[in-house]
This record gives sequence, structure tokens and C-alpha cells, in this order.
Amino acid sequence: MDVNTASIRKLASGTRVHRDVYTSQAVFDLESERVFETAWLYVAHESQLKKHGDFVRARMGRRDMIVTRGENGRFHVVSNRCAHRGAQLVVIDRGHANTFACPYHGWCFRPDGSLEVVPHPQSYPETFDYSDPVHRLARAPRVESYRGFIFASMKPSGRSLREELGSITSAFDNLVDRAPDGEIEIADVSFQTEYRANWKMHQENGSDIFHPGFVHESSVSAARRSQPGSSRLDDDLTREQLKSNDRRPADWESAVLVATPEGHSYRSGFYNSGVLAPGSENTIQGRYHAALVQSYGEERTREILGVNRFNNLVFPNILLNAQYHQLRVVHPVAPGKAIMSAYCFRLKGAPEEIYHRAVRYFTNLSSPASMISSDDIEIFERCQAGLERGDAEWVDFSRGSGNEKKDSDGTITANASELPMRSFHSTWLQYMTQGVG
Ligand code: FES
Ligand SMILES: [Fe+2]
Repeated sequence: MDVNTASIRKLASGTRVHRDVYTSQAVFDLESERVFETAWLYVAHESQLKKHGDFVRARMGRRDMIVTRGENGRFHVVSNRCAHRGAQLVVIDRGHANTFACPYHGWCFRPDGSLEVVPHPQSYPETFDYSDPVHRLARAPRVESYRGFIFASMKPSGRSLREELGSITSAFDNLVDRAPDGEIEIADVSFQTEYRANWKMHQENGSDIFHPGFVHESSVSAARRSQPGSSRLDDDLTREQLKSNDRRPADWESAVLVATPEGHSYRSGFYNSGVLAPGSENTIQGRYHAALVQSYGEERTREILGVNRFNNLVFPNILLNAQYHQLRVVHPVAPGKAIMSAYCFRLKGAPEEIYHRAVRYFTNLSSPASMISSDDIEIFERCQAGLERGDAEWVDFSRGSGNEKKDSDGTITANASELPMRSFHSTWLQYMTQGVG
């Protein structure tokens, strides 16, 4: 297809999106450039890079990158591709290296990507200059952190991370504030799940309040039949969560969906009872509550635990769940292929059982063998298969359109709506047509 601005604009307008947005290689190539080469993308958490030489591998769209920490404590995001003949420098997900030595001919790079040394330098031309930018690793020109979350952008200038996050900073704040010591640490468990559908399906599903009762019906009915105490290892959190996927019209109508002017969104009021609900009487929760009160006082603790939101969708590819201490990042691989990376956090200063419970629940929700995530992926793949057949051109996102309310800060709210998807696609379209970041 022809991918000029006018043709792109026709792909997502108002309440419907064309199937090419999910299936076309030309659209995928353009979004790799205009969305993933310009937006701020999450690359690592500061707790993974405690000292000089620590590194983590990261994806930025189709790019394979390494996040490093330099001698001065600065974070760098450099290409995992040798500047000589292109060999991949590291193949592990994280580690420690004061220099990155290429496995092919031994060029050595510093954590900031500059070339330190080449073996047998006399065999290179006299004019060979170590400091020539062509001999350094390509790198993200902008790297910024927000409360420990490191982001990078391939666009040399533009809006700051803070400006681009806008009011969705509240989601990161709430996750960090839930730690009595005001600090979180990424857990040494993560999952990478590849699925055969477009990356956007993951984002659309994160705030889809109608799907749980249908897609997760099998686990809902198993949880309904089970007795209290049957998921003892996580204080029945999994059982309660599975049960609360049994959504009814009253739940749909009471769920508030919010979209911010920057294209982020969240849904609130999802989890109103059980161990995580504000005011829970559970003993572990009681000890955790006491630790928070000691750090922040009663009123602030009430505020922190009172933030009852499910997924926060951060454009383009993050789903952050502060209540469950989980982060998911979805990476595009091809029009019909994506990788979902899921991470869990430890809240410093909270009872150890809070961490165990979070990991247990994380496994139940986000692992490839999860009773929940595997259902969602099955649906993504069925949607992709339907779109690829091409007998229908359009995807409908009209539910709740016309019922939105606009606040003075530009925020839009609605109930029982596909508002988050419309907001996501209109931001996607802005990136695609203007390259704005
Ligand atoms: S490809 Fe890396 S040193 Fe030659
Ligand atoms: Fe789901």
C-alpha cells in the first residue's frame, strides 16, 4: 500500500480502525520509524544498574540496545551492534562489563559507546581515529528517568519525558509510594512471551473492561466453585482476582475510564473487595499498612492505598499496574508478531510476604502458562487471524462514543467505553502523520 500522510490518516478515524493498522508491512515499517524512533520508551529500571558496568539488554522498537551505567553514574542506551562489522555484542539479558569486547575481532567499547581500543592498531590506516563518531556504538540521544524508571528516545530533541508522561506520572508515583521506604526494586523474575498478533492488541486489551467475563470464563467459573483459602500461597489473591473477572453490567457501568491528552489512559474501580482492597483486615496487609503509616502517616497511607486503578496504559507500549506491582512492555517484531515482557517489583520496607504474594500473583497473571494471560493471547491471535484473512476491512471501537466528558485539564472520562482504544489510536495517528513526540 501507499503510505503517505493522507492514506495513513484514513486508517484510523473516529471510532474505527482499518485492518492494515495490524497487518500491513508498510504500516509496520512506518510505525517503527515514526512511533518507536521518536517516542520515549521504557528501557530499564535503575535498580538493575546499581554500579558502573552493570548493563541490561533492552528493545526499542526493532532495535536491540544495551542500557549501561557509566563511571559518573550516568545511564546510556547504546546499540548492541558492533561499529566494525555489526556483530551482536551481548547475548545475555543482563550482566556486568566495564567494557564491551566484540566477539568477532575484539574491538572494545566503553559503557557510553565510545571505542576504547582495537587489537593490533598498526594494521588500521594511519587516519583511523578512535574518537570518530562512526566508530562508536549508535546510541539513544536522550535518556531520562522518572522515579527510577529509565526511558530513552531516538529523537534528538523534543518534549521531555516528564512532559510526555503528563498526568500518567501518577501511576509511577503510586507504585513507588506503595513502598514504605519510598523505593522499589525490580524482581529477579521476568517473563518474555512471544505471540502471533500485532503489538497494539496487547495495549487495546489492557483497558478493555468488557472482555474478562467472556475471555476468562474458564478461570472465573473454576474460582467461583473453589473454597476460600484455595490459593493460600498468595492469601487468596489469585482466587479473588479470578472471581472479580466475572463482570456484570453494574461493574461495567461503574468502571471509570480516563484518557489523558498525551494518549495515556487507565481504568479505575476494578478491584473493590478482597485482600488488596482499601481497609482489608488481612494480617499481612495489616503489617504492611502499619509500615506505611510509620513512613507516611495515616492520611497519606489512606490516599496511597486508596488509588484503586487497574492497568495504566502509557503510550505507546507500557501497561503499569501499581496495585499488583507489575509492569508489562510490549515490543513489535513484525505486523503479526510481538513480544510481551513482564516484570514484578519488590516494595522496599514492606513485609517479605507482600513480595512473595506479588510474585505468586505475577506468575498467575503474566507468565506464559498463566490462566489469564494465555486466554488473552489466544484472543489476540484469533483477532489477528481474522484480520489477516481480509474479508472484513474495519475494526470497530464505537462502544461508549459520545458519552465522554471532558475536564478542564483535557482529561476525558467515560464509563463502559472503548475510550482508551480511541485515545490510543488517535495518539498513534498523530505520531504516524506528524512524527510528533
Ligand atoms: S565485528 Fe566487532 S570487532 Fe569486528
Ligand atoms: Fe484479559
